[in-house]
Amino acid sequence: MDEIWGAPTLPAASAPPAGVCHLWPVPVSSRTSWISDEEWAQADRFVADHARRTFLTSRSSQREIAARYLGIAPDAVTIERTCHRCGGAHGRPTVGESIDLSVTHTREWVVLAVVGQGRIGVDLEQRGTARDLDTLTSTLTPAERAEFAAVPPSERTAWFLRRWTRKEAAVKLTGHGIAVRFDALDTLGPLATGEGVAPDWPAEDIHLTDVRVGGDLVVAVATTVSLDTVVICGPLP
Ligand SMILES: CC(C)(COP(=O)(O)OP(=O)(O)OC[C@H]1O[C@@H](n2cnc3c(N)ncnc32)[C@H](O)[C@@H]1OP(=O)(O)O)[C@@H](O)C(=O)NCCC(=O)NCCS
Ligand SMILES: [Zn+2]
Repeated sequence: MDEIWGAPTLPAASAPPAGVCHLWPVPVSSRTSWISDEEWAQADRFVADHARRTFLTSRSSQREIAARYLGIAPDAVTIERTCHRCGGAHGRPTVGESIDLSVTHTREWVVLAVVGQGRIGVDLEQRGTARDLDTLTSTLTPAERAEFAAVPPSERTAWFLRRWTRKEAAVKLTGHGIAVRFDALDTLGPLATGEGVAPDWPAEDIHLTDVRVGGDLVVAVATTVSLDTVVICGPLP
């Protein structure tokens, strides 16, 4: 764990102060202590075993980590997932007013990001995963495409993943998910900006922070309050 995330620390069980984000990497495992009956039923619908394990690790650790901040037992944590577009239960997770959290995962890692002020979105990608870069460049703005064209071919995947994690972090902060015009969402600067990204795209600032970690992982967070510090937290007891 240390090779990728450095030496994580267990933070105090209170909401991070303004400007601080707590990032919790959790290895995908059979960590399933805090799964609801409904989630067990959902887990049984996964065909791929790795997807099932990721799902269970994610949902269980969301309760464990939120419980630390809320000062309640994990099985007392209620996670709302109402979609702001259709009202279905597949939206942005929220656990009340005192913290905001966002979740992302790969086959190997679940990462939770937590702030005590404003809202947050996080995205994690793994460099080794096969991707068709020519198709993916359609998600870039004209200014991003121009910069991409100047990147040496051997560095293009890394460049693209940096851009992509920033875009995904922003759409996870707003709760839109992929239902936006990514080619209108510019992430070259410290803020995510754009006209016509989505009809109800928020006017507030969305600050982008690249989190430098080891291994072949690329991580970015988007926040409504600018960040000074990202604290890597863990391991969960
Ligand atoms: C949100 C989304 C971008 C996630 O991307 P992804 O590459 O699949 O997955 P990641 O690993 O980065 O993130 C997964 C986590 O995102 C969170 N999430 C799900 N929907 C979200 C949303 N709308 N906004 C923010 N976070 C969301 C969940 O916590 C999920 O983890 P969990 O199910 O274990 O709790 C993508 O699933 C999406 O766009 N969903 C909405 C699709 C849509 O528009 N559906 C129709 C709505 S009417
Ligand atoms: Zn929906």
